Amino acid sequence: MPIHHFLDIDALDRKTLRALIDTAAALKAKGRVPKSLKLPSAPVLAMIFEKPSTRTRVSFEVAMHQLGGQSVVLNGQDMQLGRGETVADTARVLSRYVDVIMLRTGPPQTLTELAAHATVPVINGLTCRSHPCQVMADVMTFEERKGPIKGNTVAWLGDANNVAASWVQAAARFGCKLKIACPKAFAPSPELLAWAAEEGAEIEVGDDPMAAASGADCVITDVWVSMGDADERKRNERLRPFQVTAAVMAAAKPDAIFMHCLPAHRGDEVTAEVIDGPQSAVWDEAENRLHVQKAILAWCLGAKLMAPKPVRARRAARAKPARRRRASR
Ligand code: CP
Repeated sequence: MPIHHFLDIDALDRKTLRALIDTAAALKAKGRVPKSLKLPSAPVLAMIFEKPSTRTRVSFEVAMHQLGGQSVVLNGQDMQLGRGETVADTARVLSRYVDVIMLRTGPPQTLTELAAHATVPVINGLTCRSHPCQVMADVMTFEERKGPIKGNTVAWLGDANNVAASWVQAAARFGCKLKIACPKAFAPSPELLAWAAEEGAEIEVGDDPMAAASGADCVITDVWVSMGDADERKRNERLRPFQVTAAVMAAAKPDAIFMHCLPAHRGDEVTAEVIDGPQSAVWDEAENRLHVQKAILAWCLGAKLMAPKPVRARRAARAKPARRRRASR
């Protein structure tokens, strides 16, 4: 069987991505991991962090624990990797100890090199080019609040960074429209946009935040200064017109949600009024990292993903507790 790496959304087909989201949603609804997804051999996840993390680290560690496995957290600087051992040798050695590796790094080449030389699955925990685990949790969050994402409009305001790049890929795979508003210098790469156009994705890139938000079902932003970005002052100045404010949210649909992968800087990319307001879905979004991580780990480790119940079965399941309650009265 080929190794199930989770490297980027564009590397996976629609069916697999849909099964991952449906499994994550089913795991959340169930509130526990069913036997079918428990990993029998207590596998070990190695997580290498070359950049800081709160959500990715904790959600992966808890996810692995809930699946019946365990994790080892490695700081890149404390490893021989930080003293010049090659990525390829690191991949070969870790593959002899653990069952799956997650990497958070800067250069995407480090991730592809690790995956090329590992004999176990490798998961992208963020590079400067993409953040697919985050956007899978975003899609799950959108769908639990607003139903199937296909045909809906998502507006991205601000720096079209690594998370936005994964959103471009998600728009192509999940069939939603993506409207990006950013300064020209902060736009997605022409290669990524060309790929999206070839895939038939509906992506608009402009520099008018109100036009992007107009009629959107969801407004998203991210920090203006990502890990590794230089020139903080200049970035803040150029991105200020793209702040998500109450006026921006008012331009979107009345039931639009606001998402942000966190950590957030209130007063910069988003006002406190929006992120702490009734349209904000950011805490569900952060929680959903955990459920998506479980689905991704299970898939990487060869478990069969959960199929969503047909509508009739879902209706029957919803009806059951009501009948039980009436009978016990
Ligand atoms: N959103 C996200 O990846 O959070 P962390 O940087 O805390 O992992």
